[in-house]
Amino acid sequence: MAPSYGQGVYYARRRSTLIGRIAPELRPGASVLDLGCGNGTYLAAFGILGNVGSLHGIDLSLEMVREAKRRMAGRAHLVQAEVCALPYRAQSFDLVLASHVLPFAYELGLAVSDIARVLKPGALLVATLGGGSARGALRSLMAPEQWAEFEKSAFDHSLTRRIDRGPERYLAAGRAAGLQVEMQTLTFRLTWRDVAEWLRIRWVGIASGREIAQRIADEVLAPRLDQEVEVRQTIMLARKPAG
Ligand SMILES: C[S@@+](CC[C@H](N)C(=O)[O-])C[C@H]1O[C@@H](n2cnc3c(N)ncnc32)[C@H](O)[C@@H]1O
Repeated sequence: MAPSYGQGVYYARRRSTLIGRIAPELRPGASVLDLGCGNGTYLAAFGILGNVGSLHGIDLSLEMVREAKRRMAGRAHLVQAEVCALPYRAQSFDLVLASHVLPFAYELGLAVSDIARVLKPGALLVATLGGGSARGALRSLMAPEQWAEFEKSAFDHSLTRRIDRGPERYLAAGRAAGLQVEMQTLTFRLTWRDVAEWLRIRWVGIASGREIAQRIADEVLAPRLDQEVEVRQTIMLARKPAG
């Protein structure tokens, strides 16, 4: 998982859509922190932008940190850490990215208040909320009973059980931390072939019910592989007041 996470068209498009939204917010020389940086795909994309001053990433998984170090080859500062206890001084960063990690935080309120601590005055937290993925699009193709069987077979619930997908908790946590919060929706387009690739790379290979999951995916996706689908992603933009 650590070397392969983030491969394929779905992740590439999700990344470029988010980076495209963030890029205009970056002033030249900005210091950027990527929380739950995984194997470093977002850090690499920030590196390509050219106007970033310093790149930092944390991840709870040592394996992911190792992969990110390998990918970034000295161009980013990487450490193993938890989002609720950031190993940085107050007011260190111009931008903090939390892509698909806050839903796993030990305690969302603690994580957001520690992020607020490390933001410089006027700096921005960009966080994706759980649930904005190809999964929702896939669900719309299935009858409720078929979705229930597919979901049980395809997705590892030890990873997804704790995820709270609603924006209300994120809004409340941002406001409690003194941040100015707004929600936005990003969209990007894929084909169902790309969704099938995402399922294969990310989920079905490790699923406990992999034969059932693959059969249902084939049944539902085979007739429409070349059709396009729109994927929506809700993000939170939370700015620390300039002071
Ligand atoms: C779903 S992946 C997202 C990776 C990347 N940010 C992206 O959007 O493609 C979640 C990542 O967050 C890490 N993670 C999960 N819980 C964490 C926590 N409490 N603190 C720090 N990292 C965490 C995982 O190890 C994993 O690399």
